[in-house]
Amino acid sequence: MNIIGIESSCDETAVSIINDEKVFTSIISSQELHKEYGGVVPEFASREHMKNIDNLVIKAFEEANMTIDDMDGIAVTRGPGLMGALLVGLSYAKGLSFTSKKPLIGVNHIEGHIMANFLDHPELEFPFLCCLVSGGHTQIVYVKDFQEYEILGKSIDDAAGEAFDKAARILDLGYPGGPIIDRMAKEGDPKFHRFPRAQIKNRPNDLSFSGLKTSVLYLTRQSEKKWIEENINNICASYQEAIIDALQKKTFKILEEVDVNTIVLAGGVAANSRLREVFQQKARSRKVNIYFPSLAYCTDNAAMIAKAGMEMMKRNMTSKLDIKAIPNLRLID
Ligand code: KG4
Ligand code: ZN
Repeated sequence: MNIIGIESSCDETAVSIINDEKVFTSIISSQELHKEYGGVVPEFASREHMKNIDNLVIKAFEEANMTIDDMDGIAVTRGPGLMGALLVGLSYAKGLSFTSKKPLIGVNHIEGHIMANFLDHPELEFPFLCCLVSGGHTQIVYVKDFQEYEILGKSIDDAAGEAFDKAARILDLGYPGGPIIDRMAKEGDPKFHRFPRAQIKNRPNDLSFSGLKTSVLYLTRQSEKKWIEENINNICASYQEAIIDALQKKTFKILEEVDVNTIVLAGGVAANSRLREVFQQKARSRKVNIYFPSLAYCTDNAAMIAKAGMEMMKRNMTSKLDIKAIPNLRLID
């Protein structure tokens, strides 16, 4: 089965063609223009998607040496994401489906992140516990089967990726903050400063990152600029450690409450080198199976959308041409 995937929920325009066994092509065009604004500007994102999408689809068919006639379905992100950005990909996919008479499959972006793991690890089996960490979501999800989810823990405020991005903004390091802090932390001491690990009353499985962001703000206000500059790598390493510490503690705690022995990481923050290392070490010492996608499939991409779409298609879960974009779509209602 050949599927073309289209992703345009935020600031990456992405197109991929896959079959059951391999990814023929996965093209990602990251919109650099947002960097100078320190975050994604929705209107600019939609315009950039409009500019790029047609060329990327043509390029994907060229790289895969295929045409639309070779496709069995067209998978596209319908949410969550920015309304205008989502509409570009969804409208394009609808047009492609209408003219080619190939089925349309509206995909949940969050589900795409989880399914990305199957691109690299076809041997992965349900059920598993997924630590889903992206720019918009932080959830610890019991994945019982395809599309059978139970959210057992979540951040009650900022997502983990947001915590990285907001700290980078406070420290004036650039956008997006995650990869920058990851890189700088490699040269720093994670024990340099003890950032708080939030405990939420009566919600032992949930996380909170907003206090962490506030404490980095206070640290910068209370300290000399020179001191911050001299210790920036140490601050990054300590801040990153606080996020990872919270994520790993909650995930391994929740693992004891479910009858599974496999942890799966997903989402942009799963690209973090220290997060991968810490989870891997702890999983090894506890004899727990651990999986995470290759770096290219952690952050937003269209191969993961094609993969989730393929699994839907196999279950006859195709969409009508009048489906709507849903900016606040959730993993489960
Ligand atoms: O999954 P994603 O590409 O988009 C959403 O669906 O949100 O995640 C983007 C988030 C951003 O907050 C970015 O800073 C973070 O993932 N991120 C990282 C790393 N690479 C991307 N966070 C920490 N370390 C990284 N290496
Ligand atoms: Zn994403």
